Amino acid sequence: MSFSPNSPIVCNLPRVTIVGAGRVGSTLAQRIAEKNLADVVLLDIIAGMPQGLALDLMEARGIEIHNRQIIGTNNYADTSGSQIVVITAGLPRKPGMSRDDLLKTNAKIVVEAAKNAIAHSPNAIFIVVTNPLDVMTYLAWQATGLPRDRIMGMAGVLDSARFETFIALELGVLPADVKAMVLGSHGDLMVPLSRYATVNGIPITELLDAATIERLIERTRNGGAEIVELMQTGGAFFAPASATSVMVESILLNQSRLLPVAAYLQGEYGLEDVVIGVPCRLGCGGIESVLELTLSDEEREGLHTSAQSVRQNIERSQEILANKNNS
Ligand code: NAI
Ligand code: 2OP
Repeated sequence: MSFSPNSPIVCNLPRVTIVGAGRVGSTLAQRIAEKNLADVVLLDIIAGMPQGLALDLMEARGIEIHNRQIIGTNNYADTSGSQIVVITAGLPRKPGMSRDDLLKTNAKIVVEAAKNAIAHSPNAIFIVVTNPLDVMTYLAWQATGLPRDRIMGMAGVLDSARFETFIALELGVLPADVKAMVLGSHGDLMVPLSRYATVNGIPITELLDAATIERLIERTRNGGAEIVELMQTGGAFFAPASATSVMVESILLNQSRLLPVAAYLQGEYGLEDVVIGVPCRLGCGGIESVLELTLSDEEREGLHTSAQSVRQNIERSQEILANKNNS
């Protein structure tokens, strides 16, 4: 029997590009490949680094039993034809820094990454991870000129997972049995919806008193900073990579999952021209619809306060980018 390893058959396997091969980017590459979702292109500005990571991940394929390709590169030409582009490039927080402190550096990095990536993958769906998340997603939307269904930010899945974790720990139940939604911006003004949080359908308000729920909400709001303070050398990356991989999966497999996603709003929730976390149905077209939940006055006010802070930072970022373009 003859066997030709160089067969000319071309298979159109899905390809996901990850810009920024740091801790979140490289862990996401591992998740995507090991879930057998797509081939992955890892791109970074550091010469040799994404190539080394890709080789390391390729050498694990036989053990993990998958056959996905992982390519490391410093060249956007290698990313061409991607179905999804995830942007994780930029600086993470140091202890004491807020996500907004990252605005100045990361705005320029994200705009450049978005422009380069869209030039090589004009049909891709974009997921932004870099902080400050809502502002960076807005800038990437502007830079790519994409319709709003094809660009989104990851934060709500992570913030909701943290809320679910803290509820599960408090009650001593399986985390997967807890379902919760956190809306709003990825920051101190996020809006955890305790009214909608359940343990297999039982509202947590039946299981926990108000003071305990408030304590868990506060811990959720502080979830990223808690890890930064503990680690002292960067931020969370395992759960962020898992959260992003769930979004990638829902898009690639057309699962139509209802997930909290940072989306560009055009009047939903009374908000316009701003990116903020809201429940979205994610399928092969990207954001297939935005669900408008009925919110209490307090929740609605929380969402609007959150959006106002994002809007102020969008304005700051526009000034930063304009100054850069003038210099
Ligand atoms: P990291 O420092 O480990 O990785 C960032 C990578 O970006 C580095 O490898 C760096 O060389 C690369 N990079 C910098 N400029 C670049 C450019 N112009 N082009 C391509 N690559 C470039 O940081 P980590 O922990 O992976 O975090 C990445 C970003 O994600 C940070 O901004 C962090 O705050 C954010 N983040 C957001 C989360 C969310 O929920 N949205 C959760 C966790 C992290
Ligand atoms: C987090 O929430 C730093 O945004 C990142 O872990």
